Amino acid sequence: MASLTIRQLDEASKKRLKLRAARHGRSMEDEARTILREASEAGEDRATPPERKKSARGTHAVPAPGVKRVLLIVGGGIAAYKSLDLIRRLKERKIAVRCILTKAAQEFVTSLAAGAIVGERVFTDLFDPAGEFDIGHIRLARETDLVVVAPATADLMAKLAGGHANDLATAVLLATDKNILLAPAMNPRMWSHKATQRNLAQLKADGVAFIGPNEGEMAESGERGLGRMAEPLEIAAAIEAQLKPRGALTGKRILITSGPTHEPIDPVRYIANRSSGKQGHAIAAAAAAAGADVTLVRGPVSLSDPVGVRVIKVETAREMLEAVEKALPADAAIFAAAVADWRMAGEHTQKIKKSGGKIPELSLTENPDILATVAKHKSKRPKLVIGFAAETENVARNAKAKLAAKGCDWILANDVSPATGIMGGDRNTIQFVTPSATETWPTQSKEDVAKMLIERIATALSGAKA
Ligand code: C5P
Repeated sequence: MASLTIRQLDEASKKRLKLRAARHGRSMEDEARTILREASEAGEDRATPPERKKSARGTHAVPAPGVKRVLLIVGGGIAAYKSLDLIRRLKERKIAVRCILTKAAQEFVTSLAAGAIVGERVFTDLFDPAGEFDIGHIRLARETDLVVVAPATADLMAKLAGGHANDLATAVLLATDKNILLAPAMNPRMWSHKATQRNLAQLKADGVAFIGPNEGEMAESGERGLGRMAEPLEIAAAIEAQLKPRGALTGKRILITSGPTHEPIDPVRYIANRSSGKQGHAIAAAAAAAGADVTLVRGPVSLSDPVGVRVIKVETAREMLEAVEKALPADAAIFAAAVADWRMAGEHTQKIKKSGGKIPELSLTENPDILATVAKHKSKRPKLVIGFAAETENVARNAKAKLAAKGCDWILANDVSPATGIMGGDRNTIQFVTPSATETWPTQSKEDVAKMLIERIATALSGAKA
């Protein structure tokens, strides 16, 4: 085996070795031996299968296809302990996590604790040969869908704003081509300091996203103010939002009603209609696919919930109105539900009995008009309010009258005469009515109608003419 003396190393390597040895409290010779041992272990490691590689200090998993990965950088602050809970929350959401602890973070949480929760080794050192040969800082920066810093200290913010890269965390932040989300945590005075605020403005201008800080009690007794790290659940939600595919409606809140309503006659009977909810559900799915934050308020349907949509289940028109009002504000609201126009005037808490051939009189009263209520809302009217009109005759004319009467921006009118097969069917023929024009869309699947509508909404919300 060839022998190597430290004197034979070039000056730069010698300096790095000296620094490392000092950091680990070893002699330079011992440090060199450690580096060689770790490097040879890492070399063996690269020959093992890719699914679950053994590294010098543990294992690292390759996420299954479709699973998103977050690189979590834990900064040094008392809030660091909450990052362990954040890791747990992300794993609950099936998000893979890799973790870097800064030197200061290791004063608050150990690599052992973080590694145990992550389920693989955590990364701490920029000049770690085992790490560099195995998963170097460039791979850490790139093999992720999002980089999150929680807690983001004033120091980390300053370094990132200034482009420093003198440790693993900052080198990764500089080398990444992925979005960065910071969860700042610091003393309120540090947060409001001009330097921090200057760095915040710079980072925002650079496209860095932020969650928090929140207002509240500080770890230091008696101090209150803006500077608490956002709670792990809030950070997890911000991460999920960042990981959503970016589309034409990213950042927009869309509210949709769908399905029929059921209006009880008595505890066992109800007034209903033949709406399947297919069109409203397809719109909710298309809005979510376009990146919107979607709330779907739906009456009784047998459809499964669209993926990535907040679903609120209701029975009656009055419940639907209440849920819709709670879900405001929204950028656009689409009222695709076939809301029952009437409900029973009185309440029958017991089943109505058949008595001696006498036909009961069902006296009805009008339901609230949800679309009109929202379209005429004083403070929370969405920018776009869109209705449907299910007609059996004079479709376009009736739809135009409805547009004016209800105060909405657009109406999608369709002929629901039984012969068309639209009610409950998979296809739809829409007359798209605006105050200035009426268009007839081709007969197409309800999914394609939804996509066309979502494109129109995205154009209108972006400020262009629909
Ligand atoms: O039933 P009508 O033809 O008036 O429905 C037109 C539009 O108004 C639809 O978009 C429907 O969702 C909405 N609507 C409502 N609340 C009602 C009745 C209808 O939101 N009570």
